[in-house]
Amino acid sequence: MAEAMMRTHEAGGLRVEHAGKTVVLSGWVHRRRDLGGLIFIDLRDRSGIVQVVVYPDQAEAFRVAETVRSEYVVTIRGTVKKRSPETVNPKLATGEIEVAAEAIAVENTAKTLPFVLADDDAVDESIRLKYRYLDLRRLGMQETFRLRHQATKIVRDFLSAHGFIEVETPMLTKSTPEGARDFIVPSRLKPGAFYALAQSPQIYKQLLMIAGFERYFQIARCFRDEDLRADRQPEFTQIDIEMSFMPLGEFQDLIEAMICELFERTRGIRLERPFLRLTYAEAMDRYGSDKPDLRYGLEIVDVGEAVRGTEFQVFGRALQTGGVVRAINAKGAAEKLSRKDIAALEETAKTFGAKGLAWLKLDADGVSGPIARFFQGEALRPLAERTEAEVGDILLFVADQLPVAREALGAVRRALAERLGFIEEGAYRILWVTDFPLLDYDPTEKRYVARHHPFTRPKAEDWEKLESDPLAVRAESYDLVLNGYEIGGGSLRIYRKEDQERMFRRLGLSDEEVAEKFGFFIDALEYGAPPHGGIALGLDRIVALLAGKTNLRDVIAFPKTQSGTDLMMDAPSRVRAEQLVELGISVRGGGA
Ligand code: AMO
Ligand code: AMP
Repeated sequence: MAEAMMRTHEAGGLRVEHAGKTVVLSGWVHRRRDLGGLIFIDLRDRSGIVQVVVYPDQAEAFRVAETVRSEYVVTIRGTVKKRSPETVNPKLATGEIEVAAEAIAVENTAKTLPFVLADDDAVDESIRLKYRYLDLRRLGMQETFRLRHQATKIVRDFLSAHGFIEVETPMLTKSTPEGARDFIVPSRLKPGAFYALAQSPQIYKQLLMIAGFERYFQIARCFRDEDLRADRQPEFTQIDIEMSFMPLGEFQDLIEAMICELFERTRGIRLERPFLRLTYAEAMDRYGSDKPDLRYGLEIVDVGEAVRGTEFQVFGRALQTGGVVRAINAKGAAEKLSRKDIAALEETAKTFGAKGLAWLKLDADGVSGPIARFFQGEALRPLAERTEAEVGDILLFVADQLPVAREALGAVRRALAERLGFIEEGAYRILWVTDFPLLDYDPTEKRYVARHHPFTRPKAEDWEKLESDPLAVRAESYDLVLNGYEIGGGSLRIYRKEDQERMFRRLGLSDEEVAEKFGFFIDALEYGAPPHGGIALGLDRIVALLAGKTNLRDVIAFPKTQSGTDLMMDAPSRVRAEQLVELGISVRGGGA
């Protein structure tokens, strides 16, 4: 700029009360319309868009305006004018005014963009990710990141006010068994040795409790080499919290207060407190999921007793072989579900291991469906009572072993809610799911594995089953679930050395392995470890829910694709041969 014009206002903030003022604006040309005698420039900066009008009598400004193109960076001086009523644009916050340009300086030109910045998602996502800096120019995207910033700030302020301090823990750490797959980082100074990127600060935050910090938090970056889905990124952010000497109820209360404040202050959403609590067993029985979406009913009902003695062999056999018969009553949906819909639901059930999905429609003149002949007259009564079925309802059944019946009907429940439009718009239903099983059995590794992590404390009354009936042991653990998403998880921790060793033994780790991988931690437990516990909340998931987005990529500035690549930088990529030599690494077959 020859004669620098200094910005005086943000474009999106101009209103009628600025009429008559001379302003200097800087930003991007959102759109330029040339009406022959007149040029309109929609000027955009981070605050919004304002219409600039350039008249030919401002000869120099008009000449420059003729040269500008979309996304040129410009500084414009002009006078704010009230628009005449018929030209008011109610779609723009600045729509009651426009700026009559007197001088325009082009700060920089721009090539034609690979896509139009109109604020919709019609553009192919791979193009958006390749040119992420342009994608992020959309005002809608910027709004999401302001929301994310605000959310983080509220959490930091809340926890600080409650005596927590933020401590940064290493990202370069040690690979340990248990948990997800690690990203590993080769060491140059110790060729052949590797760091692992932290999957979470779990061990560090426990060490901080042993160190006597009592109240810790961290907005922590975590790395997991997992198979990715819409709600999973290889690097993501946790609101990680740990505390000593706090009864569980009070701890959960504090977390509830924080979540409520977060939702209220960012989006004006009021969540009811105390949050609902379901044990894992209840959640699985009633919703077929450990992260139930409570925006709709469609609860699963145990109809075993009601169908006992039925002539329908599938049900009878299941009950005789230790299985269950469970059902969902889709209220009022008998007419809404076509045969095709039901066939699709049956496919869903089958992908979760069910052998079929039996169904019964209750019509004014009786029942219909493939198993209707078994449920005529009196045979129907107990079933109808148990499921509170009325004319117009349809019952959907799975008969199987308990885990299959629960999971399959859980999936059917979700699909049904979607198909029937039962999901309450704009609702936020949050709950705690508690008392998860401590262990799972991994058939490929032929051993028990920690369902969450090996530091989770079993419920006091279940310790005795750790060796005799491991799968029946429940953990002092809790997840926070919102609208069917797990937004956080935590537990009380083991804090006595003998208990931690017993747990490692249960997981099949040899004494040598424990010493090698966790020796420092076992040592630490011997120097006065306080009772403690904590939680980690998935910040990305929470922001996505607040922003009404279903994909985490929309709330992460520079995310990875489903296959873990950064399309803009083209990472991961090969490295120079010298780098590999330095690290003492050779790549088989030359690498990717
Ligand atoms: P957990 O593994 O359950 O617990 O993680 C806590 C929360 O982090 C979020 N999350 C993810 N978000 C995005 N992408 C991912 N790949 C991803 N993985 C997890 C979820 C989840 O609820 N150290 C323990 C916490 C503790 O015990 O205190 C832990 O990491 O919202
Ligand atoms: P069939 O007698 O095999 O023709 O099955 C009759 C109905 O029962 C069909 O609608 C099947 O989908 C359903 N069905 C089969 N096996 C099961 C099962 N284990 N649980 C629930 N429904 C089933």
